[in-house]
Parts: sequence; C-alpha cells; structure tokens
Amino acid sequence: VGRRKVGFVPTMGDLHEGHLSLIRRSRKENGVTVLSIFVNPIQFNRKDDYQRYRRNEVKDLAKASAESVDCVFLPSAKEIYPAGYQTKVSAGKLSQGLCGAFRPGHFDGVATVVLKLFNLVQPRRAYFGLKDYQQFRVVERMVADLDLSVRLVGCPIVREPDGLAMSSRNSRLAPPERRRAARIYAALQSTALMIKSTSNWSQSAMRSRFARELAPDKGDKIEYLEMVHPESLEPLKTARGPFVLTAAVYIGQTRLIDNIIHL
Ligand code: PAJ
Repeated sequence: VGRRKVGFVPTMGDLHEGHLSLIRRSRKENGVTVLSIFVNPIQFNRKDDYQRYRRNEVKDLAKASAESVDCVFLPSAKEIYPAGYQTKVSAGKLSQGLCGAFRPGHFDGVATVVLKLFNLVQPRRAYFGLKDYQQFRVVERMVADLDLSVRLVGCPIVREPDGLAMSSRNSRLAPPERRRAARIYAALQSTALMIKSTSNWSQSAMRSRFARELAPDKGDKIEYLEMVHPESLEPLKTARGPFVLTAAVYIGQTRLIDNIIHL
C-alpha cells in the first residue's frame, strides 16, 4: 500500500453511525481505509470508566466489513504500551480548559496514542468527529507542532433523530435518562439563538438559559457550558464573530458532551 493513499479512522470501538460517517468519508477520499479499534487506557482519568467502556469487537468487525473497510487494526494494550513504556506527548494550552479542566491528563493520553497510531498506520489523511471538538483542535495542534504530514479532516456530528449526538456512552442511559439527554442539543440550540440575537447578554444569562432548557434532574449535573473561540478555545465575551458553544453534562452517572459550531 502506497502511503499516500491511506485514510485512517481511529476509534475506541463500539461503533455507531458517527464512526461509520468517518469511515464512509475516508472511503470516498482515499484508496485504502484503515480503522483502528483501541480503548486507550492512558486517556481515561477514571479506572472504572476505562473498565466499563463497552467492548464490542464481534459487532464492530461485522460493521467494518459491511462498510468495506480495508484493514482493521485491533491492538492489545500490551502491544501499544509494553513493559517499560514511559514516553508521553504533552498537549499544550488548548488541552487545559473545557474537558481538560475536568479530566486531568486526558488529552495527553489522546495525543500520545494518536501520534503512535499515526506512526504505525502512516496515513495520508485522518478522520475525526467534531463532536469531540477540543480533541480535534488538540490533535490538529500536535500535527502542526510536531511536523506530522497527515492531513486532518473534521467531520460533522451525527445525531439521533431527536438530536442527541451519537456516542458509545448513550447505551448506558436508562429510558428516562435517554429522554433527558435529548434536551442537551435542544438547550444548546436555544442558548446559541439567544447569544446570536441579544447584543448584551452575560455568562450567567447564557448559563441560566441553558439550565432552564435542559431542566436537569436531581442526579444530573452541568459540568461546563462555554462559548469559546473556534481556534483558540478561549472563552468569548461577545458573540459578534465565530464561536463554538460547548457543554459537558452528566445525565445520572453518564457524562455526555456536545457542541454547536457557529462560523
Ligand atoms: P471514539 O470516542 O471512539 O471516537 C472516534 C471518532 O469518532 C472521534 O473522532 C469522534 O469524534 C468520532 N465521533 C464520535 N461520535 C461521533 C458523532 N456522533 N458524530 C461524528 N463523529 C463522532 O475519540 C476517540 O474515540 C478517542 O479519543 C481516539 C481519537 C480514538 C483516541 O483514543
């Protein structure tokens, strides 16, 4: 396989339509598509979250084959991190806010494994979902800073019919939680509309609008809601230019993220 032709889709498996959209895009744009499935232990800051992460290899391989993926890379943790392993990528400022503020070490773990996977697969292009917006920007920064020759392709968020962003974690939601989870996107939309239509709004007005629309249950929690610059990820005080409105919400025990990109 000539290296110039490889399109690469890195995942942690438990594949859903969001992942499949990346595969389809790669198939369209490259002669060969490689899919990796690896639940990366070093990007989980909670051990129970790592252990609970759903493994679904048999179904994943059937889906990969139905999508005509050319090659599936399914390494073990020992292959990626053998005894003696000790080197890490340190992501910079882009990784500090938003999810990074609540998941210490997470983006270093992501950057490290993505760099290793890029080195192993040697792709010409790599496909990432914009649902994990901060992850996309962190990886993009790493590609520039470490002079990698891969081209990143950011792909739109795939949603359920009721608006909930597809995620491997959605399967953990009990039916009433699943209904509340659908309100995350609705609340983001309503808040984005308010931001765009009001000239003098405040952070607290933004947060209370979001909370009112979300109508969280007692056990739910808004981890953060921020309006940030699409590239610097710095919090914005006015919505005159482009912005990303992004949130992390616990519905019960399940942490979900979503965003709206306004360019
Ligand atoms: P994972 O959560 O499995 O996601 C793999 C890719 O699918 C990511 O680029 C993610 O943004 C994308 N994705 C997930 N849900 C999506 C949706 N609803 N619409 C569009 N794209 C979606 O992200 C990771 O794995 C890991 O951090 C990884 C990059 C593989 C490194 O371990």
